Amino acid sequence: MKNIVILISGRGSNMQAILEARLPLTVAAVISNDPKAGGLATAQKHGIATRVVDHRAHANRAAFDTALSTEIDAFKPDLVVLAGFMRILTGDFVNRYRGRLINIHPSLLPSFTGLDTHRRALEAGVKVHGCTVHFVTPELDHGPIIIQAAVAVLESDSEVTLAARVLAEEHRIYSQALRWFCDGRLEITPQGTVTILAARGAGGALASPALDS
Ligand code: GRF
Repeated sequence: MKNIVILISGRGSNMQAILEARLPLTVAAVISNDPKAGGLATAQKHGIATRVVDHRAHANRAAFDTALSTEIDAFKPDLVVLAGFMRILTGDFVNRYRGRLINIHPSLLPSFTGLDTHRRALEAGVKVHGCTVHFVTPELDHGPIIIQAAVAVLESDSEVTLAARVLAEEHRIYSQALRWFCDGRLEITPQGTVTILAARGAGGALASPALDS
């Protein structure tokens, strides 16, 4: 059985969805950079070991990342799962876990890297928005894409309503990506894209607004 460590910074709803998805894996630990992260209590309720590596207690990014990797490595994970982990990681850290570090981002990458994705999607007037699970590489929000889910952007949407619809999809696709990982079905090609072995093919096309006919 694969062993994972989940890194969080806040409420941890993606972490919770993973814990409740009955995946064929062991969550060895949940680690937060913030002692106040709400997700820590949720993890404890599920009987998962928790650790805090407070970024404020470290002089710089490199020192924090070294302390973080020491905690992670103690659990010998096959995969490190970023689930709302809001710290930018150094190249050294990312390279240490190359191919075994994944993230969820609340946009259809490569659009809207970085923060405030829902506000920026609304401002840009895109009609389709969504979320992406990807392998992490040193360039922020640019690693090989594993799975994406799209939602229609509605005329009536606020940042809050759009975020909620995207979040529901995040919870679905993160568990799916982890299941593929556990089953050994994720392959990074020499071109730096991801192939899902024996994938079921594309979902139906989404046009938004809907076509007239
Ligand atoms: C999610 O939208 C995730 O994509 C982003 O931060 C949010 C974290 O939410 N990186 P949660 O802590 O998993 O509830």
